[in-house]
Amino acid sequence: MSHQTVIVLDFGGQYNQLIARRVRECNVYCEVKPYTTPLAELKAMDPIGIIFTGGPNSVYLDDSPHVDSDIFTWGVPILGICYGCQLMAHALGGQVTEAQDDSAREYGKTQTYYDTACKLFHGLPAQGISWMSHGDYMAKVPEGFALVAHSDACPNVAIADETRGFYGVQFHPEVNHSENGVAMIRNFLYEVCGAKGDWTMEDYKNTAISAVREKVGQGKVLLALSGGVDSSVVAALLAEAVGKQLTCVFVDHGLMRLNEGDEVEAAFSKWDINFVRVDAESRFLLKLAGVDEPERKRKIIGEEFIRVFEEEAKKVGAVDFLAQGTIYPDVIESGAGDAAVIKSHHNVGGLPDYVDFREIIEPLRLLFKDEVRQLGRELGLPEYLVSRQPFPGPGLAIRIIGDITKEKADMLREADFIFRDEIAKAGEDKNLNQYFAVLTNTRSVGVMGDGRTYDYTLALRAVTTSDFMTADWARIPYDVLDKISTRIVNEVKGINRICYDITSKPPATIEWE
Ligand code: XMP
Repeated sequence: MSHQTVIVLDFGGQYNQLIARRVRECNVYCEVKPYTTPLAELKAMDPIGIIFTGGPNSVYLDDSPHVDSDIFTWGVPILGICYGCQLMAHALGGQVTEAQDDSAREYGKTQTYYDTACKLFHGLPAQGISWMSHGDYMAKVPEGFALVAHSDACPNVAIADETRGFYGVQFHPEVNHSENGVAMIRNFLYEVCGAKGDWTMEDYKNTAISAVREKVGQGKVLLALSGGVDSSVVAALLAEAVGKQLTCVFVDHGLMRLNEGDEVEAAFSKWDINFVRVDAESRFLLKLAGVDEPERKRKIIGEEFIRVFEEEAKKVGAVDFLAQGTIYPDVIESGAGDAAVIKSHHNVGGLPDYVDFREIIEPLRLLFKDEVRQLGRELGLPEYLVSRQPFPGPGLAIRIIGDITKEKADMLREADFIFRDEIAKAGEDKNLNQYFAVLTNTRSVGVMGDGRTYDYTLALRAVTTSDFMTADWARIPYDVLDKISTRIVNEVKGINRICYDITSKPPATIEWE
């Protein structure tokens, strides 16, 4: 079945993949194409609509990106965003100039007023915040267009020619800061382009599987599986696509949470792949013995991981592809744009030296985190893997303050499990974005039964956050905290005091090390 297609025509803006993601979110298939794509090629895709993205240029300059003007007589609806809006205005006889100081140069959150009779804003509130980022101004709106939104500073925040199906917005509806922005994109797709919503994650899965098959052919693929969401989803996708041609190397460094290693292994038992689980606990603990400096711990784990992985890779021999769980936010964070980005294992700075491979494949490269989770579900991965909270690559090593021993790791695992268990039982997990226990290096005096104890203090950490860059400590109800504290002290030998971390980030970080 072929799906209705929307083309996102890329003029170099920073949110272009986000626009594509919004279109997918509205259950419409879309492809991002560079603005230089010949019109005939775009026509061959038979799209139901086109979205012009933003971009860093000024449309009135000669060397700015432009489009074949026949695109406007083709009869396909167009939504222009920011630069895309100005481009459309410019191409259709309007005039775009540099905004004069206060008149209409706008950045950031801006109160905006919409004409809800316009299809783009149907059924939405008549005012709201929109996210602006433009220094240019449409001094003259092209013929046939009406002004359909304004702000206090700018009379023409959005323009529309509903007869031709042309819409332009100066703001960025795709970003979260724009209230009802996704609903506006949805209106464009459904009310203007006639989208039926025939694209789902299942379709995405099938397309991704075919794409991997085509690329890999009869080749061999090697993947370092960490058990985190991204690498697990890549593993499942590859397993489904190429089965036995895939070797997954799962390095168990012994610093995972309770039962985690077994859970990861179990999740992949349903596929006929080469699954190698390396039990490297004692190796890692030996290297870490006596080390208490956080950065050294990270470095040791990163390096040791590479060494173990290399040893396994040597046994596998030459492979054609090395697969990576790079997802779109990684690409952006690395500031890489189109350049190849490498994420071999979180925190491992770079690729192993001695793995013999021809090419890297990154099948999740264009997906956002929640899409990766959805794809994982679609591939039949269990919920505990797919909805897993972030877990640092160095694992419990950076949650054991001071030097690391097996006894401490076991103690922390048990306490952490109780914490998570009680949070789930209280139904608090849906309110928290990350929560875990930290074994401090402090011991204090306590009394248990008739005896004096001198045991470790455990810290509980739970935060709410949307981006993990800033975070607030979570207001877990006292009675839940009480239950957790009682259980841990009673059930975990070696811990006699529990503290709850009530610092936000900043000034603290989420992890303790
Ligand atoms: P911080 O402690 O910097 O953590 O506030 C922010 C988020 O990043 C996770 N984190 C890591 N993730 N490798 C990772 O893959 C690491 O070394 C690492 N350190 C911190 C942390 O769990 C939180 O979600």
